[in-house]
Amino acid sequence: MPEHYRNRIRLDSLLGRVTTAAAAAEWIRDGMTVGMSGFTRAGDAKVVPLALAERARRERLKITLMTGASLGSDIDKTLTEAGVLARRIPFQADATLRAAINRGDVMYVDHHLSETVELLRTRQIAPIDVAVVEAVAITETGAIVPTTSVGNSASFAILADKVIVEINLTQSADLEGLHDIFIPRRRPHREPIPIVSARDRVGHSAITIPPEKIVAIVITEKSDSSSPIQPPDDETAAIARHLVGFFEREVKAGRLTEQLLPLQAGIGTIANAVMSGFIDSPFSGLTMYSEVLQDSTFDLFDAGKLDFASGSSITLSPQRAREVFGNIGRYKERLVLRPQEVSNHPEVIRRLGIIALNTALEADIYGNVNSTHVLGTQMMNGIGGSGDFARNAYLSIFATKSVAKGGKISSILPMVSHVDHTEHDVDIIVTELGLADLRGLAPRERAEVIIGNCVAEPYRQMLREYVAAANKRGGHTPHVLEEALAWHTRCRSTGSMLPLVA
Ligand code: COA
Repeated sequence: MPEHYRNRIRLDSLLGRVTTAAAAAEWIRDGMTVGMSGFTRAGDAKVVPLALAERARRERLKITLMTGASLGSDIDKTLTEAGVLARRIPFQADATLRAAINRGDVMYVDHHLSETVELLRTRQIAPIDVAVVEAVAITETGAIVPTTSVGNSASFAILADKVIVEINLTQSADLEGLHDIFIPRRRPHREPIPIVSARDRVGHSAITIPPEKIVAIVITEKSDSSSPIQPPDDETAAIARHLVGFFEREVKAGRLTEQLLPLQAGIGTIANAVMSGFIDSPFSGLTMYSEVLQDSTFDLFDAGKLDFASGSSITLSPQRAREVFGNIGRYKERLVLRPQEVSNHPEVIRRLGIIALNTALEADIYGNVNSTHVLGTQMMNGIGGSGDFARNAYLSIFATKSVAKGGKISSILPMVSHVDHTEHDVDIIVTELGLADLRGLAPRERAEVIIGNCVAEPYRQMLREYVAAANKRGGHTPHVLEEALAWHTRCRSTGSMLPLVA
């Protein structure tokens, strides 16, 4: 028995299940629903999916693929190109898959990330046939120790008939002990999730399943993909400054202390850059109760600003990944990774009083937010966990640059072309130009604050004219309906929202 993985499979009866990716993939048949590990490019199953793509060149093989969130290692790209994906749930961020979704070739179901396993558990959607989970190790009792993400892996493994484990030798064995696997009981016997602080550990350090369900084990040595986020720029730094100023005023008003409340930051460049902006702030003793932990989490640890971070995955740039995973012991006591059902649970988010920071593609003058659909129809990534957090947060903040595509697109519009977060779920909108505090404001007041603080010219003037015309028509939320989406239709036909010059 090869010694290099002997300490990674500690239940002897499972050693005989070690096989190749191609042989393991044989357990997956055409028409099946497969649940794979992976959350924002971290901890994804990396070789069994590629073996599936290979097989699809020889035979018909179409599956419903569920994951935690987006995958790395070009897995979504490769599976799309091989025609393996019939349906994809609940999140993706891959250009090739995105194009297939927008062509209508792949049926994409964009879930709130906390909800997928609830729907599975209650059999409201098709059950999982096979789970494929990346692991650091299998314990003496046959429990699975996840790697850099937990995502939906625990419930996939519990609910599937058969489980394939990818033991990834590039993932540090020291990750064991980082995870806290808590699975809510089935209703009507469900009890409160006993998390009262971001630090609380309430479950087990590994995924407990009957070991006989593990039908195949594949040994891999492929690293996680690194995060594609861009470094902070002038605009994201300005957004961070506006937010830090806002929090300083909240502290002064006695509504927050200098430890603030647990922070959640969404995926992407903007949220990461804004979190990094807290390094130059007067706040300390911060905590995070979030889903993906990006570079900024570790920047804040190193700056002595952050005390503890709870998430569902860790996704880092190449240099940060080397520093953090090369010496995870340095951070381990201050980190926990949970199932996304728990990291994103409305009950816990409301109890802890989370300050939620997510990103908008576009927002409208009344505070409705579109985070997913470019020009109302083209899927970008998905809603992810932004809705789980925004609706239940103590403070729900949406950040966006005031314009996109070199100024041809305004991020603030008369009406959003798709709604992910309604005005009721949005407390603050912030762009590089300023911050709109919408708390306690009626729609007409919200429009004034958003236009006055967050919008770039010439769009600011255009919105003022729109509001003046809308107000003449009256209403609680005034609109000139036949013009409300005119900026989008103009952009669709001319490539720009700027007015046509005669
Ligand atoms: N119309 C068209 N394109 C737009 C746009 C708009 N109104 N606003 C932004 N974009 C484009 C940008 O130009 C950029 O394009 P590029 O990749 O070709 O350069 C891309 O969208 C990303 O925008 P960026 O400004 O760099 O922001 P980001 O990396 O922070 O991503 C979201 C923003 C909204 C796409 C991303 O945060 C997301 O998918 N959010 C939904 C999921 C979520 O919030 N999860 C949170 C919990 S994990």
